[in-house]
Amino acid sequence: MARRIGVLLSGRGSNFEALAESCAAGRIPGAEIAVVISNQDGAPGIVRAQARGIPARVLQSKGLQREVYDRQVAAVLQEYKVDLVCLAGYMRLLSRWFVAQFPQRILNIHPSLLPAFPGLEAQRQALEHGVKWTGCTVHFVDENLDAGPIVAQAAVAVRDDDTPDALTARILTEEHRIYTEAVRMVLDGRFNIAGRRVMTS
Ligand code: GRF
Repeated sequence: MARRIGVLLSGRGSNFEALAESCAAGRIPGAEIAVVISNQDGAPGIVRAQARGIPARVLQSKGLQREVYDRQVAAVLQEYKVDLVCLAGYMRLLSRWFVAQFPQRILNIHPSLLPAFPGLEAQRQALEHGVKWTGCTVHFVDENLDAGPIVAQAAVAVRDDDTPDALTARILTEEHRIYTEAVRMVLDGRFNIAGRRVMTS
């Protein structure tokens, strides 16, 4: 696969920054972040992209029907000839139409060991449930929330004295590590998918 990555985000952008850093450092050989798109005006991730000299766009989603908005996003991704779409704290479900434009070419990172604790505040959900281990997951994206085939996971132990913030910080370190590994594997085409199982080849 060619190696132009488009990042969609809504907020802080630390996973974007980790991917950008990995591209710059050669940990994802030959890859580059071609464009960053945010649905939120003022997202810190957009400022981070601009600081790195990476093209950054804000496309306001408010009031737009899902597919109408997604067509605008896809047009920008196509303008930048993006091969792989990485969601990085992107707080919107994608339409079936959008998913069909990029078959096996959309990844997401989620701060739990899916299928446990999908949705918002996964770290808080894990603490409240009382699990001893949680972590993060990189998965292919379909039109359902946090649901596509799993590419990579990392486990993080929950400590007795954990707070949501402390747990979130330890998970985030693992997110940054496995997102790079997953993107590299997918761009290298080193995988097969059988049912829901993604296997390295
Ligand atoms: C991360 O925890 C990611 O797993 C989740 O949203 C958060 C985004 O953080 N999907 P950041 O914007 O990448 O710093």
